[in-house]
Amino acid sequence: MSDETSALRESRGARLAALVERRWATVSVLIVVVFVAVAAFGGLHQAAMPQARVETISPTRLHLGGEFVETNLGSAVEPDGSVTVRAVGQQYSFTPQCMLVPTDTLITFRAASPDVIHGFLIEGTNVNAMLVPGYVSTISARFDKPGDHLMPCHEYCGVGHEGMWAKVKVIDKTEFLKMAESKPRLSCVE
Ligand code: CUA
Repeated sequence: MSDETSALRESRGARLAALVERRWATVSVLIVVVFVAVAAFGGLHQAAMPQARVETISPTRLHLGGEFVETNLGSAVEPDGSVTVRAVGQQYSFTPQCMLVPTDTLITFRAASPDVIHGFLIEGTNVNAMLVPGYVSTISARFDKPGDHLMPCHEYCGVGHEGMWAKVKVIDKTEFLKMAESKPRLSCVE
């Protein structure tokens, strides 16, 4: 009799365990389904939307005139107090090699490539973009404290890719503005 009771209790326990397990399996499958649906919707929705702003530029005429001519590269103070940094990424270097920016200022990087796709990434920040020939890449950033940030090219661009990098040097805002008084374009290239 007691044997029968315990066997009964055991099977009831097993049934309950199976029920709970099945319920949790269902919940976890549903969670995965929801995640996949959200990712699919987000990806498709974004891919179907045109970019907010597309600026084109002739890659073959980049050096000959206009915004990305060599004398116009580097950091410039804008009338509104922000700073624009213009740069070119080419096989296998960035110009300027060292970009100088002030602290506590809205910085707008504008960069272009005359040859192939390069990466524009500033370590320690969320600046991460591609330089696609034919387009101007615009990325905003703000730096709280002085220091150096490495800028390795992170898009494979040819045999010299691994040696392609630049640096962003952040200096105190007042020091930067003082330097900007005497020079229209600043960089930290020696
Ligand atoms: Cu430029 Cu890799």
